[in-house]
Amino acid sequence: MITFASVFSVRKMDKVCIGDKRFRLYIPQEKIAEKVGELARRMAADMSGKNPLFVVLLNGAFVFAADLLRAMDFPCEVEFMRVRSYDGTASTGSVEVIQDIRVDIQDRTVVLIEDIVDTGTTMHFLLQRLRERRPQSIKIAALLFKPESLRYDFAVDYAAFRIPRDFIVGYGLDYNEQGRNLKDIYVIDD
Ligand code: IMP
Ligand code: MG
Repeated sequence: MITFASVFSVRKMDKVCIGDKRFRLYIPQEKIAEKVGELARRMAADMSGKNPLFVVLLNGAFVFAADLLRAMDFPCEVEFMRVRSYDGTASTGSVEVIQDIRVDIQDRTVVLIEDIVDTGTTMHFLLQRLRERRPQSIKIAALLFKPESLRYDFAVDYAAFRIPRDFIVGYGLDYNEQGRNLKDIYVIDD
């Protein structure tokens, strides 16, 4: 259950409680919008004219993808893939594909849109799996990147924010499926 500290207030909530954890405001929505806009401009400069295929990783990336994709105004396609690797606040180390894409990606410019790259287990697994289908290229766009947690050797081509290892929620990211609908990003406050 989320407890909204000041749900009727116009002010931002500085703190939220989700289940047994307390979180404090970390990145306000205005800052997120600014960085997502910058990222969209960088991506547009690299990709317009290539009809890229954006593969949105569900569930976490749905809010980021909606804002990022609407900030780009060139022809592109969007597909959704659903994977799971997290349980509570820790990565399980194994990745399960719950819903794959059905389109042929051979010779396509593919861009994975992810909420956050943490240990890199999910992206490493997906890069291997999708490279077998012989795309022209695969790039990664992540709202957040925790470089200190990364255990694999690949590049996060587009990251809006680089952050320390702390656990965060909001703007699509969850703690035990709660908190995805928060407009701002919150960090654990234990
Ligand atoms: P990785 O496989 O360890 O890189 O973790 C990637 C996935 O774990 C992301 O797609 C998120 O769904 C989830 N995750 C990683 N860090 C966080 C976090 O701080 N908050 C919420 N979810 C996270
Ligand atoms: Mg995710």
